[in-house]
Amino acid sequence: MKTIVITGGAGFIGNHVVRLFVNKYPDYRIINVDKLTYAGNLANLKDVEHSPNYEFRRIDICDFDTVYSLMRDEQVSGIVHLAAESHVDRSIKDPFSFAQTNVMGTLSLLQSARMYWESLPEKYDGKNFYHISTDEVYGALILNRPDGDGHGNGPYGDDLFTEENKYMPHSPYSASKASSDHFVRAFHDTYGMPTIITNCSNNYGPYQFPEKLIPLFINNIRNRKPLPVYGKGENVRDWLYVEDHARAIDLIFHNGIPGETYNIGGFNEKKNIDVVKTMVKIVDRLLGRAENEDENLITFVTDRAGHDLRYAIDASKLNRHLGWKPQVNFDEGIELTVKWYLDNEEWMNNVTSGDYQRYYESMYGKR
Ligand code: NAD
Ligand code: TYD
Repeated sequence: MKTIVITGGAGFIGNHVVRLFVNKYPDYRIINVDKLTYAGNLANLKDVEHSPNYEFRRIDICDFDTVYSLMRDEQVSGIVHLAAESHVDRSIKDPFSFAQTNVMGTLSLLQSARMYWESLPEKYDGKNFYHISTDEVYGALILNRPDGDGHGNGPYGDDLFTEENKYMPHSPYSASKASSDHFVRAFHDTYGMPTIITNCSNNYGPYQFPEKLIPLFINNIRNRKPLPVYGKGENVRDWLYVEDHARAIDLIFHNGIPGETYNIGGFNEKKNIDVVKTMVKIVDRLLGRAENEDENLITFVTDRAGHDLRYAIDASKLNRHLGWKPQVNFDEGIELTVKWYLDNEEWMNNVTSGDYQRYYESMYGKR
């Protein structure tokens, strides 16, 4: 039985990856390693928590001794590394915790894996260190077709991020992710560790912490609270439904070539203001309110510092090499997402009230 560690499995993307692996691979033992920060919530995994091939360990990835012992004692042969501090606005306020978890935590995992795998007779044979990163490491693209006339590669510009793009991070979050990517590549180039890196665009879907645009705004529309759109809402993001990302991770973990980087994206660029108006429309319809009744909640606020104008991913390498493409288009995905948050009010209340954190403190003690 293969033992695979998934870090950050209690977070937004992580829970979808854990669920997919636990259900699809009964012959793997999946260990979810998560510190349970504010963004980690085991309620996200209720449906698989009693599966015989699933275990949870509350571990801080920065704690090298504990991570190394886990690797050795559990004979871990693969790592899917998602644990991170992930919110740009928080990174602007507290860059240290981003450097700590995203850089030092990744290094602690890399070094633990290296020491354990190099001690084995077969060394790196059959091993895999898969690091999940972001398109934000590439910096910002320009918006050279503000009206989105739909010609060329993307609706808002010809240039898309490819795997060849230079790293040019602007926020402390993206700088910390860029740094961790460099360490992962260095472990491949220096020690021959089989590593894979993927850089993905903005994800959306169920179980996302309501500090990010989509769940925050759905909840605010429901509760008729203001929708704080940064700047003029002109920034463009490339949105990918989270289950499509999880399927890509599964495919790449099993079939990707060690040492390679793959971009993952939705081919789905949208201006923030258009995403916000779409959410207003759907929430109002599903709650039986008058059409666009809640558009007046839109409030333009001071722009985010260093706010990247446009991200757009060219995911054609992944399609050419491994045949991946997204299965859920934005219209379908955003409808599913809005419905999920409206149907799961208890989950949202538990998260926004902080009750889930008090529960973990009672179980595991204060952090
Ligand atoms: P998230 O913030 O929802 O979840 C992060 C998880 O990591 C949480 O469960 C948290 O408890 C855990 N964690 C944080 N610090 C830890 C530590 N020191 N030790 C152990 N666990 C720790 O994040 P997400 O949105 O699910 O993102 C997951 C990964 O995907 C991140 O690496 C992020 O950079 C990357 N990514 C995210 C997106 C996106 O749109 N959300 C897009 C591309 C890439
Ligand atoms: P976010 O969900 O934080 O993801 P990221 O910063 O990783 O792209 O933000 C998505 C976009 O929405 C980004 O351009 C910032 C914008 N935004 C707002 O306009 N208002 C908000 O309250 C938030 C959280 C984000």
